[in-house]
Amino acid sequence: LPGAVPVIAVDGPTASGKGTLAAELAERLGYHLLDSGALYRAAALAARAAGVALDDGAGVAQVAAAMALRFQGQQVWLDGRDISDELRLETTGALASQVSVHPAVRQALHDVQLSFARVPGLVADGRDMGTVVFPGAALKVFLTASADQRAERRYKQLISKGISANIDSLRADIRARDERDMNRSAAPLKPAEDAVLLDNSQLGIEESVQRCLGWWHERRPFG
Ligand code: DC
Repeated sequence: LPGAVPVIAVDGPTASGKGTLAAELAERLGYHLLDSGALYRAAALAARAAGVALDDGAGVAQVAAAMALRFQGQQVWLDGRDISDELRLETTGALASQVSVHPAVRQALHDVQLSFARVPGLVADGRDMGTVVFPGAALKVFLTASADQRAERRYKQLISKGISANIDSLRADIRARDERDMNRSAAPLKPAEDAVLLDNSQLGIEESVQRCLGWWHERRPFG
């Protein structure tokens, strides 16, 4: 029943910090969390494992519809295989961006995404949460930050995890992904008309969380 469950949509470009923000909001509110990018990432990995070309929209959609995905905290299993580490690779994000251009793939993942909306509420993170998947969301936040700042953030994040990274190639990858995600015809990355824009370039995570919680308390439809 659309509207029966309160939804917060958090959309924005790659490396904008939406994953961290959405996870924090879900934690503080005791809501469910949908990382919709993980579904596109898993679809790309599943297609590759099945030998389906990423430009074959119908083929990838079929694989995506048949995926057996299990989420548990930070762990993700695809058809019984632990794909948690592979899922988070930059290269996997780029593959996900490629499969996500196909309307058939987006359609295949639509109902899966809706099924995450359960009481007491949902925080949904992605590119089209506020525009397409949850147009009735009570709060829509659209994150922005320059490609330079996002590349720097992603760089620090990778280095802190002991993963070697090159800032120039990260910046180039981020630009390429922005370009593809914003210019595709199916559900392009753009703010919903009723979205609140949050430029978090100069904000720490706690400040971003507090702003969103403030908006949520002003406008949430229940209690
Ligand atoms: O948020 P992310 O980096 O995990 O997303 C990976 C790719 O998946 C992203 O570049 C585009 C696609 N995607 C999408 O098209 N729609 C979404 N709601 C989420 C992700």
